[in-house]
Amino acid sequence: MNRIEAIYSYIDLEDKVVDVGCDQAKLSLMLASRNQKSIASDISEKVIKRAKSDINNPLIDLRVSNGLSNINEGEADTLVLSGMGSHTILDILNNTNLRFKKILTISNNHHNILRSEMNKINYKVKSEQIIKENNKYYNLIYFEEGKTKYTNSELLLGLNHKDESLYKEYLYYLLNKYETIRKKTDDNRINNMCITIKDKLKLLK
Ligand SMILES: C[S@@+](CC[C@H](N)C(=O)[O-])C[C@H]1O[C@@H](n2cnc3c(N)ncnc32)[C@H](O)[C@@H]1O
Repeated sequence: MNRIEAIYSYIDLEDKVVDVGCDQAKLSLMLASRNQKSIASDISEKVIKRAKSDINNPLIDLRVSNGLSNINEGEADTLVLSGMGSHTILDILNNTNLRFKKILTISNNHHNILRSEMNKINYKVKSEQIIKENNKYYNLIYFEEGKTKYTNSELLLGLNHKDESLYKEYLYYLLNKYETIRKKTDDNRINNMCITIKDKLKLLK
């Protein structure tokens, strides 16, 4: 399953979807193929112009929008933010009054910051899934409305992972990465990260 297929698997037929940072609008094309409408937006006029010339489907509403600035109240209840950094995702959410019942993110960095900052704006993790595409790991996070208290391990490594075997594989990959860094630094945070990953792996065995 690739990233877009994974996101698609979390979307129900009745969800009103906006895919922010849609690029080629692949998710909207999949939704349209099952007759589901969606909004596909991107900050780049060039991207939307190209998508409009490639796609001519009345079920896909292609829009230029910086984050959610061009999305109106009531148009969407499910937000997809995939393929951007956690800080961009947080900027987008901190600059809107819109609320969502479901937010699906695939950010490429700082998942711990994403989990904790999302909690501050009242979105908590419902579940997570590691996806492997072209030999790279991606972390899909499904947020829902609400607040929670995360343990240190949950903040750093996530919680409620759907695919446990891929999650374990990802943890071994992370452990290897941090152990390599540890050899070159005496930063205690790196050491603590290695300990947290090892503890998590013990629990999963
Ligand atoms: C790497 S692509 C990801 C495409 C697709 N969502 C995916 O996951 O494969 C990132 C896209 O996000 C768009 N983008 C970046 N910042 C944005 C923002 N603040 N608002 C809307 N789109 C943004 C970029 O123009 C680009 O098309």
